[in-house]
Amino acid sequence: MKIIKAMNYEEMSQLAADRVIDRVRSHPHFTLGLATGATPLGLYNKLVGDHQKNGTSYQGVVTFNLDEYIGLPPNHPNSYHYYMNQHLFDHIDIEEKNIHLPDGTAENLVKECIFYEKQIRQAGGIRLQILGIGQNGHIGFNEPGTSPDSRTHVVRLTESTRKANSHYFKSMEEVPACAITMGLATIIESEEIILLASGEHKSSTIDKLIHGDVHHQFPASLLKTHPNVTVIADQAALKMARAPRVY
Ligand code: F6R
Repeated sequence: MKIIKAMNYEEMSQLAADRVIDRVRSHPHFTLGLATGATPLGLYNKLVGDHQKNGTSYQGVVTFNLDEYIGLPPNHPNSYHYYMNQHLFDHIDIEEKNIHLPDGTAENLVKECIFYEKQIRQAGGIRLQILGIGQNGHIGFNEPGTSPDSRTHVVRLTESTRKANSHYFKSMEEVPACAITMGLATIIESEEIILLASGEHKSSTIDKLIHGDVHHQFPASLLKTHPNVTVIADQAALKMARAPRVY
């Protein structure tokens, strides 16, 4: 696992954007795995800026998002589909048919999970996956205890995750109880992974990621078994990490 220390959120976002842009430009048919949440907003903003200024094209890019809430349709302001449209897809030249998020309103959720896996396989797998990290070490919605062999599946969200996400909703009751997420095995099959972390509230999590053992109670630790993972974290997120080997 390679650790890149950024000065601040802005630099973290720029470093991540530079990598994505570089990959997209050198492989016009590229499969990109995407995350939602607060952390990648700066990255998406930079991708949009670059598209507008330099014309980087996403016409051959196929995307797969990590997760989606169950029960929220794509046009619901709190759905991850809506978030992606608002922050990225509506502002670049990606084709609608190349955008993939799990359908949280599917009648048969088990079938939907199997179908999502099939779509990823048919696209040739994910070349570059962007990840954020929850304070409890979750990636996607793979909460502590999730099997490393898990594929796309339905999860019941922990109270801590629902609480962390509740500020996007009017009340805690509105936060969905369940979601569909890519599994840990799905994520780890990506050719390359970039994990972003920003802020002091992530510092003990990042310390644990860098220095802790691989353990199923800390899902992100599985990334240590992957040959091509880069953590781009800002100074605040690296505050507690004891002498990481930084680049
Ligand atoms: C979102 C996702 C989550 C977030 C994580 C961190 O698609 O998969 O694992 O990356 O909860 O969220 P933020 O960035 O809001 O701190």
